[in-house]
Amino acid sequence: MILVTGATGNAGGALVRTLAGRGAGVRALVRRPVDLPAEVTLGDLNDPASVAGALAGVRGVFLLSGYDRMAETLAAVARAGVEHLVLLSASAAEAANLDNPVSSYHVESEALVREAGVPWTVLRPRTFMSNTLRWADQVRAGKVVRETFPEVSVATIDPLDIAAVAAASLLEQGHAGQVYGLTGPRALRPADRARLLGEALGREVPFEGLSDAEARTELLATMPQAYAEAFYGFFARGELDESAVLPTVEQVTGRPPRTFEEWAVANAEVFR
Ligand SMILES: NC(=O)c1ccc[n+]([C@@H]2O[C@H](COP(=O)([O-])OP(=O)(O)OC[C@H]3O[C@@H](n4cnc5c(N)ncnc54)[C@H](OP(=O)(O)O)[C@@H]3O)[C@@H](O)[C@H]2O)c1
Repeated sequence: MILVTGATGNAGGALVRTLAGRGAGVRALVRRPVDLPAEVTLGDLNDPASVAGALAGVRGVFLLSGYDRMAETLAAVARAGVEHLVLLSASAAEAANLDNPVSSYHVESEALVREAGVPWTVLRPRTFMSNTLRWADQVRAGKVVRETFPEVSVATIDPLDIAAVAAASLLEQGHAGQVYGLTGPRALRPADRARLLGEALGREVPFEGLSDAEARTELLATMPQAYAEAFYGFFARGELDESAVLPTVEQVTGRPPRTFEEWAVANAEVFR
C-alpha cells in the first residue's frame, strides 16, 4: 500500500491515478471526503497524529513539503516501518538565495527527510504546466491573459511526469538517496504557453506580460507577503533559474517528458 498526500492536487492526483493504473494499492490522505481511485482516509499534514493513523500496512509514502511538525510526521513514518519515502520538494531548494521562505521550507523539509531513517527520494520539479489552469477563467471568457514575468523561460513539467518518477521511485529499486531535478522537454516563456494553448484550442489566446511592479502587486494579492517576495526574488531578480532542460524524467521512466502541447490538448476542455 502506498500513502499519497496532496491527493486532490495536481501532482498527488496524478500520482494516485498513475499508481492505480500500475495496479498498486493506494491510500489517499485527504482533508475532506472525495471520490478517488484509491482508499480514502481523512487527515491533515499539519496534524502528525492523523498521518500516523493512516500508516497501517503502508510500505511507501508520497509526502508534500513544508507542513507543521514534520519531524513528528516523519518519526511516525519511520515507526510504521515504511520502506520508501518520496518527498515532493521544488527547484526552490537550489535557489541562489536560500533565506527566502519558499526555499527554506523546502530545504528544511529535505533535511528532515534525510534524517528520518527511512530510504528516501527527493523530487525537485520545476514550475508545473498545470499552473496554466490559473488562466482558465480569462481564456474561457475570451479575455487577455495577463501573466507575471513574461521574459522568464521555464522548462515547465507535466504533473503526470512528476507522478511517473514518483511511482518509479516508490515501486522500483535503485532510487533511494536520489535527488531528482525534474523538467519538461523545453523551456517556455508565458507567451509561448499562451500560443501553444491557443493552438490546442483552435483560437488565439491573447497575451500581455505584466511589468515587475504589476507582478509584485499581483503576487501580493494572491499569497502571503513573504511568499510573494520570495517569488519576486526568484523571477524578477533572477534568484532561481528554471530554464535548463534536464534528462531525469527520461532516465527514470525510459521515455521523454511530456510536452506542453500534449498537456494543452489533454486539458483543453477546462479552457473551453
Ligand atoms: N505548482 C508548482 O509549480 C510547483 C512547483 C514545484 C513544487 N511544487 C510543490 O508541489 C506541491 C503541490 O503542488 P500542486 O500544484 O499539486 O498543488 P495543489 O494542486 O494546490 O495541491 C495541493 C494539495 O495539498 C493538499 N493540502 C493542502 N494543505 C494540506 C494539509 N494541511 N493537509 C493535507 N493536505 C493538504 C491539498 O488538499 P485540499 O484539496 O484539501 O486543499 C491538495 O491536495 C506544492 O505545494 C509545492 O510544494 C509546486
